[in-house]
Amino acid sequence: MIPTLEWTPAGVNFLDQTKLPLEETYVLATDYKQVATVIRDMIVRGAPAIGVSGAMGVAIGIERSTATTLPELTAEVAIICATLAATRPTAVNLFWGIGRVRDLYNELAARNTPIPEIKAAVVALAKRLYDEDIAACKQMGAFGAELLPKQGTVLTHCNAGALATCGYGTALGVVRAAVERGHKIDVLADETRPFLQGARLTAWELMKDNIPTTVLCDNMSAALMAQGRIQAVIVGADRIAANGDTANKIGTYGVSILAKEHGIPFYVAAPFNTIDLATATGAGIPIEQRDPREVTHSNGKQMTPDGVGIENPAFDVTPAKYITAIITERGVLRAPFSESIRAMAAESELAAV
Ligand code: MRU
Repeated sequence: MIPTLEWTPAGVNFLDQTKLPLEETYVLATDYKQVATVIRDMIVRGAPAIGVSGAMGVAIGIERSTATTLPELTAEVAIICATLAATRPTAVNLFWGIGRVRDLYNELAARNTPIPEIKAAVVALAKRLYDEDIAACKQMGAFGAELLPKQGTVLTHCNAGALATCGYGTALGVVRAAVERGHKIDVLADETRPFLQGARLTAWELMKDNIPTTVLCDNMSAALMAQGRIQAVIVGADRIAANGDTANKIGTYGVSILAKEHGIPFYVAAPFNTIDLATATGAGIPIEQRDPREVTHSNGKQMTPDGVGIENPAFDVTPAKYITAIITERGVLRAPFSESIRAMAAESELAAV
């Protein structure tokens, strides 16, 4: 298990992913504003990790508040949630994590619960969401492992691993689970320009686990697919619309088309809270635009001429028609996704009653 983030008595401790793989250092966030900065600056990144960080951010904001009355605290909670929600727009897990803690706060405040009790309850919930993320990833692994070849090469894009979650991974959790069950799997990691999540993070965490890993530049997978050297693709997701269209790291869409063309299965692994039932199709998913400097500069060195136009969308949307299956902790979804997603959501609602 890689300690991506952790609630400690001193604050929320984050493994600084901007420094990997060269330095393994931690950033301690002691208030909600620092948690927001950590999310915005991608010290922590990856949809499930962002979701739990959002929950911990609200919890630390409430826990450290000096408000002495509930109306005062309620006003602060609104500011805390808005600050955290303004960090990154695409991963729906962020809004889910913030919402889970805010809903509990509202419920307890409505019952006039004493403030110290509210503080203890929201911290306990944030910690529980952390544990639940690990359990969900392991369950995704159990469902997904059998979809991967007994022996073969799997391509992944970005980092949907331990570093993108609370310590096991979604797409890479499925790879880990397959390897734990005896599959002989080699991983190809797209480097994932411009932030290099594949080259820096996926390669780092898989090598720690002794899973054979090769880094590819983002433009190489077509040639390898044509040579028959890739048996499956597996990626994570930042937001899945109600029809199965999936936002994930920029470049995923292209990989999905290549996989389709070469008859290679294309899997998405994501916890059920990545599915946004309120967004009908991928067209409704907000796509984060990041600082052009991530493209123009590499390691502080300018790579492009002054004044050139730059595009830097952080995510793209893979249409559901290119997705073979979506692996969740509740089971494996297949086309038609609108129906399978609706059925799984309904089952969960029934189970919750
Ligand atoms: O910009 P990032 O690094 O937060 O983007 C991460 C991804 O796109 C991941 O593939 C996605 O969040 C799934 S992580 C389990």
